[in-house]
Amino acid sequence: MKSLFDHTISRKNTASVKWDGLQNRFHVDEALPMWVADMDFAAPQAVLDAMQERVQHGVFGYTLRTDSYHEAIKMWMADRHHFPIETSWIAHAPGIVPGTGFLIEALTNPGDKVVIQPPVYHPFERIIRGFDREVLRAPLSFDSKRYQMDLNALEDQFKAGAKAWILCSPHNPVGRVWTEEELRAAGELALKYHVTVISDEIHNDLVYQQYRHHPFASLDERFKEITVTAIAPSKTFNLAGLQTAAMIIPNAEMLKKYRKVLQKYSMEGANTFGVIALEAAYRHGKEWLDELLDYLEGNLATLQQLLKEKMPQIKVIQPEGTYLTWLDCREMGLNKEEMDHFFLQEAGVAMDEGHIFGEEGLGFMRMNMACPRAYIEDAVDRIAIAWQQRDK
Ligand SMILES: Cc1ncc(COP(=O)(O)O)c(C=O)c1O
Repeated sequence: MKSLFDHTISRKNTASVKWDGLQNRFHVDEALPMWVADMDFAAPQAVLDAMQERVQHGVFGYTLRTDSYHEAIKMWMADRHHFPIETSWIAHAPGIVPGTGFLIEALTNPGDKVVIQPPVYHPFERIIRGFDREVLRAPLSFDSKRYQMDLNALEDQFKAGAKAWILCSPHNPVGRVWTEEELRAAGELALKYHVTVISDEIHNDLVYQQYRHHPFASLDERFKEITVTAIAPSKTFNLAGLQTAAMIIPNAEMLKKYRKVLQKYSMEGANTFGVIALEAAYRHGKEWLDELLDYLEGNLATLQQLLKEKMPQIKVIQPEGTYLTWLDCREMGLNKEEMDHFFLQEAGVAMDEGHIFGEEGLGFMRMNMACPRAYIEDAVDRIAIAWQQRDK
Protein backbone atom coordinates (compact mmCIF):
# COMPACT_ATOMS: atom_id res chain seq x y z
CA MET A 1 0.00 0.00 0.00
CA LYS A 2 1.28 3.45 -0.88
CA SER A 3 2.08 5.71 2.01
CA LEU A 4 1.28 9.37 2.30
CA PHE A 5 5.05 9.87 2.29
CA ASP A 6 5.55 8.14 -1.08
CA HIS A 7 3.89 11.11 -2.73
CA THR A 8 6.55 13.21 -4.47
CA ILE A 9 6.26 16.98 -4.27
CA SER A 10 8.52 19.00 -6.53
CA ARG A 11 10.42 21.52 -4.41
CA LYS A 12 12.25 23.15 -7.30
CA ASN A 13 11.60 26.87 -7.62
CA THR A 14 10.23 27.15 -4.09
CA ALA A 15 13.37 28.91 -2.81
CA SER A 16 14.31 25.65 -1.11
CA VAL A 17 17.82 25.66 0.33
CA LYS A 18 18.08 21.94 -0.36
CA TRP A 19 16.82 21.96 -3.97
CA ASP A 20 17.38 25.49 -5.27
CA GLY A 21 20.58 26.10 -3.29
CA LEU A 22 22.69 23.41 -4.99
CA GLN A 23 24.68 25.96 -6.96
CA ASN A 24 25.49 27.95 -3.80
CA ARG A 25 26.56 24.99 -1.76
CA PHE A 26 27.98 22.52 -4.30
CA HIS A 27 28.50 24.61 -7.47
CA VAL A 28 26.35 22.27 -9.55
CA ASP A 29 23.00 22.84 -11.25
CA GLU A 30 21.74 19.28 -11.07
CA ALA A 31 22.08 16.56 -8.42
CA LEU A 32 19.75 14.55 -6.23
CA PRO A 33 19.74 16.63 -3.02
CA MET A 34 20.11 14.50 0.10
CA TRP A 35 21.96 17.00 2.22
CA VAL A 36 20.59 19.75 4.54
CA ALA A 37 18.32 18.37 7.28
CA ASP A 38 14.80 19.08 6.13
CA MET A 39 12.27 16.64 4.70
CA ASP A 40 10.72 16.41 1.25
CA PHE A 41 7.30 15.83 2.87
CA ALA A 42 4.39 18.19 3.46
CA ALA A 43 3.66 19.10 7.08
CA PRO A 44 0.71 17.38 8.83
CA GLN A 45 -2.74 18.34 7.53
CA ALA A 46 -3.72 19.82 10.91
CA VAL A 47 -0.80 22.24 10.62
CA LEU A 48 -1.73 23.19 7.06
CA ASP A 49 -5.36 23.73 8.10
CA ALA A 50 -4.41 25.95 11.02
CA MET A 51 -2.15 28.03 8.79
CA GLN A 52 -4.84 28.29 6.06
CA GLU A 53 -7.32 29.52 8.60
CA ARG A 54 -4.85 32.17 9.70
CA VAL A 55 -4.23 33.20 6.07
CA GLN A 56 -7.99 33.61 5.60
CA HIS A 57 -8.04 36.10 8.44
CA GLY A 58 -5.68 38.23 6.40
CA VAL A 59 -4.10 40.41 9.09
CA PHE A 60 -0.51 39.54 10.03
CA GLY A 61 0.47 42.09 12.64
CA TYR A 62 2.70 41.57 15.66
CA THR A 63 1.90 38.34 17.42
CA LEU A 64 1.87 37.07 21.00
CA ARG A 65 2.83 33.67 22.29
CA THR A 66 -0.37 32.76 24.11
CA ASP A 67 -0.99 30.56 27.15
CA SER A 68 -2.36 28.01 24.74
CA TYR A 69 0.94 28.03 22.81
CA HIS A 70 2.91 27.36 25.99
CA GLU A 71 0.42 24.69 27.07
CA ALA A 72 0.97 22.87 23.77
CA ILE A 73 4.74 22.76 24.38
CA LYS A 74 4.22 21.57 27.96
CA MET A 75 1.80 18.85 26.87
CA TRP A 76 4.16 17.60 24.17
CA MET A 77 7.12 17.45 26.55
CA ALA A 78 5.09 15.70 29.24
CA ASP A 79 3.27 13.22 26.99
CA ARG A 80 5.97 12.42 24.46
CA HIS A 81 9.07 12.86 26.62
CA HIS A 82 7.90 12.41 30.23
CA PHE A 83 9.45 15.75 31.09
CA PRO A 84 7.01 17.97 33.00
CA ILE A 85 8.00 21.60 32.56
CA GLU A 86 6.70 24.97 33.75
CA THR A 87 5.56 27.78 31.48
CA SER A 88 7.99 30.12 33.21
CA TRP A 89 10.94 27.98 32.03
CA ILE A 90 10.11 28.42 28.34
CA ALA A 91 11.99 31.07 26.39
CA HIS A 92 11.84 31.76 22.69
CA ALA A 93 14.51 31.15 20.07
CA PRO A 94 14.27 32.03 16.38
CA GLY A 95 15.95 28.66 15.72
CA ILE A 96 18.22 26.38 17.68
CA VAL A 97 21.34 27.62 15.91
CA PRO A 98 20.83 31.34 16.62
CA GLY A 99 19.51 30.44 20.08
CA THR A 100 22.66 28.47 20.83
CA GLY A 101 24.71 31.54 19.93
CA PHE A 102 22.62 33.63 22.34
CA LEU A 103 23.14 31.01 25.05
CA ILE A 104 26.90 31.04 24.51
CA GLU A 105 26.87 34.82 24.85
CA ALA A 106 24.60 34.73 27.91
CA LEU A 107 26.22 31.91 29.85
CA THR A 108 29.94 32.18 29.06
CA ASN A 109 32.53 34.93 28.64
CA PRO A 110 34.85 35.72 25.71
CA GLY A 111 37.81 33.33 25.77
CA ASP A 112 35.86 30.64 27.68
CA LYS A 113 36.09 27.04 26.54
CA VAL A 114 33.11 25.14 25.15
CA VAL A 115 33.15 21.37 24.56
CA ILE A 116 31.76 19.55 21.52
CA GLN A 117 31.83 15.86 20.61
CA PRO A 118 32.83 15.40 16.99
CA PRO A 119 31.87 14.17 14.54
CA VAL A 120 29.03 16.55 15.31
CA TYR A 121 26.66 19.09 13.74
CA HIS A 122 29.16 21.50 12.21
CA PRO A 123 27.57 24.91 13.06
CA PHE A 124 28.40 24.33 16.75
CA GLU A 125 32.04 25.06 16.09
CA ARG A 126 31.25 28.12 13.99
CA ILE A 127 28.96 29.54 16.69
CA ILE A 128 31.49 29.01 19.49
CA ARG A 129 34.25 30.68 17.49
CA GLY A 130 31.90 33.39 16.27
CA PHE A 131 31.36 34.51 19.86
CA ASP A 132 35.14 34.45 20.50
CA ARG A 133 35.04 31.37 22.67
CA GLU A 134 37.42 28.43 22.35
CA VAL A 135 36.37 25.02 21.03
CA LEU A 136 37.42 21.96 23.04
CA ARG A 137 36.91 18.57 21.38
CA ALA A 138 35.97 15.36 23.12
CA PRO A 139 35.53 13.06 20.09
CA LEU A 140 33.10 10.16 20.30
CA SER A 141 34.66 6.73 20.48
CA PHE A 142 34.00 4.39 17.56
CA ASP A 143 34.64 0.68 17.07
CA SER A 144 33.70 0.77 13.35
CA LYS A 145 30.11 -0.21 14.17
CA ARG A 146 28.80 2.03 16.92
CA TYR A 147 29.70 5.40 18.36
CA GLN A 148 29.77 6.01 22.08
CA MET A 149 30.43 8.89 24.38
CA ASP A 150 34.06 8.92 25.37
CA LEU A 151 33.64 9.80 29.03
CA ASN A 152 37.40 9.99 29.60
CA ALA A 153 37.80 12.49 26.75
CA LEU A 154 34.84 14.45 28.09
CA GLU A 155 36.28 14.54 31.59
CA ASP A 156 39.69 15.61 30.25
CA GLN A 157 38.10 18.58 28.51
CA PHE A 158 35.90 19.49 31.47
CA LYS A 159 39.02 19.33 33.64
CA ALA A 160 40.81 21.61 31.16
CA GLY A 161 38.49 24.39 32.29
CA ALA A 162 35.42 24.08 30.05
CA LYS A 163 32.58 26.46 30.94
CA ALA A 164 29.95 24.86 28.75
CA TRP A 165 29.24 21.66 26.80
CA ILE A 166 26.99 21.38 23.77
CA LEU A 167 25.34 17.98 23.98
CA CYS A 168 23.73 16.82 20.74
CA SER A 169 20.97 14.45 21.79
CA PRO A 170 20.05 12.52 19.65
CA HIS A 171 23.40 12.95 17.95
CA ASN A 172 23.68 14.37 14.45
CA PRO A 173 25.32 12.94 12.29
CA VAL A 174 25.96 9.51 13.84
CA GLY A 175 22.33 8.87 14.86
CA ARG A 176 22.97 7.78 18.44
CA VAL A 177 20.12 8.09 20.94
CA TRP A 178 22.09 8.33 24.16
CA THR A 179 21.20 5.83 26.87
CA GLU A 180 20.15 6.90 30.31
CA GLU A 181 23.42 5.48 31.69
CA GLU A 182 25.58 7.47 29.28
CA LEU A 183 23.70 10.67 30.01
CA ARG A 184 23.81 10.18 33.76
CA ALA A 185 27.54 9.48 33.71
CA ALA A 186 28.25 12.55 31.55
CA GLY A 187 25.91 14.64 33.72
CA GLU A 188 27.81 13.70 36.88
CA LEU A 189 30.99 14.94 35.19
CA ALA A 190 29.33 18.22 34.22
CA LEU A 191 28.25 18.71 37.84
CA LYS A 192 31.68 17.81 39.20
CA TYR A 193 33.45 20.35 36.98
CA HIS A 194 30.72 23.05 37.08
CA VAL A 195 30.02 22.88 33.36
CA THR A 196 26.84 24.41 31.92
CA VAL A 197 25.01 22.06 29.56
CA ILE A 198 23.38 23.19 26.33
CA SER A 199 21.40 20.12 25.34
CA ASP A 200 20.38 20.40 21.71
CA GLU A 201 17.41 18.04 21.50
CA ILE A 202 16.04 19.17 18.15
CA HIS A 203 15.95 15.54 16.94
CA ASN A 204 14.19 14.34 20.14
CA ASP A 205 11.03 13.11 18.40
CA LEU A 206 12.82 11.24 15.63
CA VAL A 207 13.70 8.07 17.47
CA TYR A 208 13.25 4.50 16.21
CA GLN A 209 11.17 1.82 17.82
CA GLN A 210 13.62 0.04 20.13
CA TYR A 211 15.11 3.27 21.45
CA ARG A 212 14.00 5.97 23.82
CA HIS A 213 15.09 9.57 24.03
CA HIS A 214 15.78 10.85 27.54
CA PRO A 215 15.70 14.62 27.95
CA PHE A 216 18.99 15.18 29.74
CA ALA A 217 17.53 17.68 32.21
CA SER A 218 14.71 15.30 33.16
CA LEU A 219 17.09 12.67 34.55
CA ASP A 220 18.12 14.46 37.72
CA GLU A 221 17.02 17.58 39.60
CA ARG A 222 20.68 18.65 39.73
CA PHE A 223 21.05 18.36 35.93
CA LYS A 224 17.98 20.56 35.52
CA GLU A 225 19.71 23.40 37.35
CA ILE A 226 22.71 23.48 34.98
CA THR A 227 20.98 22.71 31.69
CA VAL A 228 19.21 24.45 28.84
CA THR A 229 17.15 22.09 26.70
CA ALA A 230 16.73 23.27 23.12
CA ILE A 231 13.64 21.94 21.34
CA ALA A 232 11.65 22.77 18.21
CA PRO A 233 8.97 21.27 15.98
CA SER A 234 11.12 22.11 12.96
CA LYS A 235 12.79 18.72 12.30
CA THR A 236 9.89 16.62 13.56
CA PHE A 237 7.16 18.24 11.45
CA ASN A 238 9.30 19.83 8.72
CA LEU A 239 8.74 23.43 9.76
CA ALA A 240 12.33 24.74 9.71
CA GLY A 241 11.44 27.68 7.46
CA LEU A 242 9.13 29.07 10.16
CA GLN A 243 12.02 29.76 12.52
CA THR A 244 10.30 28.95 15.78
CA ALA A 245 12.05 27.10 18.60
CA ALA A 246 12.07 27.05 22.39
CA MET A 247 14.71 27.01 25.07
CA ILE A 248 13.70 25.32 28.31
CA ILE A 249 15.63 26.96 31.16
CA PRO A 250 14.56 25.92 34.68
CA ASN A 251 17.38 27.87 36.38
CA ALA A 252 16.00 31.39 36.94
CA GLU A 253 19.43 33.05 36.85
CA MET A 254 20.34 31.41 33.55
CA LEU A 255 16.94 32.28 32.12
CA LYS A 256 17.38 35.92 33.07
CA LYS A 257 20.75 36.08 31.34
CA TYR A 258 19.36 34.44 28.20
CA ARG A 259 16.39 36.80 28.03
CA LYS A 260 18.73 39.75 28.36
CA VAL A 261 20.66 38.65 25.27
CA LEU A 262 17.39 38.07 23.35
CA GLN A 263 16.42 41.63 24.22
CA LYS A 264 19.81 42.97 23.24
CA TYR A 265 19.34 41.60 19.72
CA SER A 266 15.59 42.41 19.66
CA MET A 267 14.85 38.77 18.93
CA GLU A 268 11.85 38.23 21.20
CA GLY A 269 9.21 38.68 18.51
CA ALA A 270 7.05 35.83 17.28
CA ASN A 271 6.62 34.61 13.71
CA THR A 272 2.82 34.52 13.29
CA PHE A 273 2.92 31.29 11.28
CA GLY A 274 5.59 29.68 13.43
CA VAL A 275 3.42 30.07 16.50
CA ILE A 276 0.33 28.68 14.75
CA ALA A 277 2.26 25.75 13.27
CA LEU A 278 4.03 24.78 16.49
CA GLU A 279 0.79 24.68 18.42
CA ALA A 280 -1.10 22.69 15.78
CA ALA A 281 1.78 20.24 15.38
CA TYR A 282 2.20 19.58 19.09
CA ARG A 283 -1.55 19.33 19.64
CA HIS A 284 -2.52 17.27 16.62
CA GLY A 285 0.62 15.83 15.04
CA LYS A 286 1.11 12.63 17.03
CA GLU A 287 -0.43 10.14 14.56
CA TRP A 288 1.31 11.79 11.62
CA LEU A 289 4.63 11.52 13.45
CA ASP A 290 4.11 7.84 14.24
CA GLU A 291 3.40 7.20 10.55
CA LEU A 292 6.46 9.20 9.59
CA LEU A 293 8.67 7.14 11.90
CA ASP A 294 7.35 3.90 10.34
CA TYR A 295 8.07 5.27 6.89
CA LEU A 296 11.59 6.35 7.84
CA GLU A 297 12.31 2.88 9.24
CA GLY A 298 11.18 1.51 5.88
CA ASN A 299 13.51 3.91 4.09
CA LEU A 300 16.37 2.80 6.28
CA ALA A 301 15.69 -0.88 5.58
CA THR A 302 15.50 -0.12 1.84
CA LEU A 303 18.76 1.80 1.90
CA GLN A 304 20.54 -0.96 3.81
CA GLN A 305 19.20 -3.68 1.50
CA LEU A 306 20.01 -1.82 -1.72
CA LEU A 307 23.51 -0.91 -0.61
CA LYS A 308 24.15 -4.53 0.36
CA GLU A 309 23.05 -5.69 -3.10
CA LYS A 310 24.52 -2.96 -5.28
CA MET A 311 27.24 -1.16 -3.38
CA PRO A 312 28.49 -3.33 -0.49
CA GLN A 313 31.55 -1.14 -0.01
CA ILE A 314 29.27 1.36 1.74
CA LYS A 315 28.09 0.44 5.24
CA VAL A 316 25.26 2.22 7.04
CA ILE A 317 26.05 3.00 10.66
CA GLN A 318 22.79 1.88 12.28
CA PRO A 319 20.95 5.04 13.30
CA GLU A 320 18.89 4.89 16.49
CA GLY A 321 17.30 8.24 15.76
CA THR A 322 17.26 11.20 13.32
CA TYR A 323 16.47 10.87 9.61
CA LEU A 324 20.14 11.22 8.80
CA THR A 325 22.25 8.21 7.91
CA TRP A 326 25.98 8.10 8.42
CA LEU A 327 27.55 6.13 5.62
CA ASP A 328 30.91 4.50 6.18
CA CYS A 329 32.57 4.75 2.76
CA ARG A 330 36.12 3.97 3.85
CA GLU A 331 36.22 0.66 1.97
CA MET A 332 35.92 2.56 -1.31
CA GLY A 333 39.54 3.59 -0.80
CA LEU A 334 39.10 7.20 -1.96
CA ASN A 335 40.85 10.19 -0.50
CA LYS A 336 38.90 13.28 0.61
CA GLU A 337 38.88 15.06 -2.78
CA GLU A 338 38.17 11.86 -4.72
CA MET A 339 35.27 11.00 -2.45
CA ASP A 340 33.68 14.46 -2.67
CA HIS A 341 34.11 14.36 -6.45
CA PHE A 342 32.76 10.84 -6.80
CA PHE A 343 29.47 11.34 -4.99
CA LEU A 344 28.70 14.79 -6.30
CA GLN A 345 30.15 14.89 -9.83
CA GLU A 346 30.18 11.25 -10.87
CA ALA A 347 27.10 9.89 -9.07
CA GLY A 348 25.14 13.17 -8.98
CA VAL A 349 24.04 12.76 -5.35
CA ALA A 350 24.49 15.83 -3.15
CA MET A 351 25.21 14.74 0.44
CA ASP A 352 27.01 16.41 3.31
CA GLU A 353 30.64 15.33 3.30
CA GLY A 354 31.64 13.58 6.51
CA HIS A 355 34.69 15.78 7.03
CA ILE A 356 32.57 18.92 7.53
CA PHE A 357 31.52 17.40 10.88
CA GLY A 358 35.15 17.22 12.03
CA GLU A 359 38.21 15.30 10.89
CA GLU A 360 36.70 12.19 12.54
CA GLY A 361 34.16 12.22 9.71
CA LEU A 362 36.72 11.68 6.95
CA GLY A 363 35.67 8.69 4.82
CA PHE A 364 31.98 9.12 5.70
CA MET A 365 29.02 10.79 4.01
CA ARG A 366 25.77 11.94 5.62
CA MET A 367 22.68 11.00 3.66
CA ASN A 368 19.34 12.59 4.51
CA MET A 369 16.73 9.86 4.00
CA ALA A 370 13.62 11.96 4.78
CA CYS A 371 12.31 11.69 1.24
CA PRO A 372 10.00 9.49 -0.81
CA ARG A 373 11.47 5.97 -1.01
CA ALA A 374 11.90 6.30 -4.77
CA TYR A 375 14.64 8.90 -4.16
CA ILE A 376 16.59 6.41 -2.04
CA GLU A 377 16.37 3.86 -4.86
CA ASP A 378 17.50 6.50 -7.33
CA ALA A 379 20.42 7.54 -5.11
CA VAL A 380 21.76 4.00 -4.68
CA ASP A 381 21.40 3.36 -8.43
CA ARG A 382 23.29 6.55 -9.25
CA ILE A 383 26.08 5.63 -6.84
CA ALA A 384 26.34 1.99 -7.98
CA ILE A 385 26.33 2.88 -11.69
CA ALA A 386 28.96 5.59 -11.23
CA TRP A 387 31.11 3.13 -9.29
CA GLN A 388 30.86 0.54 -12.10
CA GLN A 389 31.86 3.20 -14.65
CA ARG A 390 34.91 3.94 -12.56
CA ASP A 391 35.94 0.30 -12.57
CA LYS A 392 36.00 0.20 -16.38
C1 LIG B 1 21.62 19.19 16.00
C2 LIG B 1 20.98 20.31 15.25
N1 LIG B 1 20.76 21.49 15.85
C3 LIG B 1 20.18 22.52 15.22
C4 LIG B 1 19.79 22.40 13.89
C5 LIG B 1 19.15 23.57 13.19
O1 LIG B 1 18.32 24.26 14.02
P1 LIG B 1 17.54 25.58 13.57
O2 LIG B 1 17.12 25.39 12.15
O3 LIG B 1 16.41 25.62 14.53
O4 LIG B 1 18.49 26.71 13.75
C6 LIG B 1 19.99 21.21 13.23
C7 LIG B 1 19.62 21.08 11.82
O5 LIG B 1 20.04 20.20 11.13
C8 LIG B 1 20.59 20.13 13.92
O6 LIG B 1 20.79 18.96 13.33
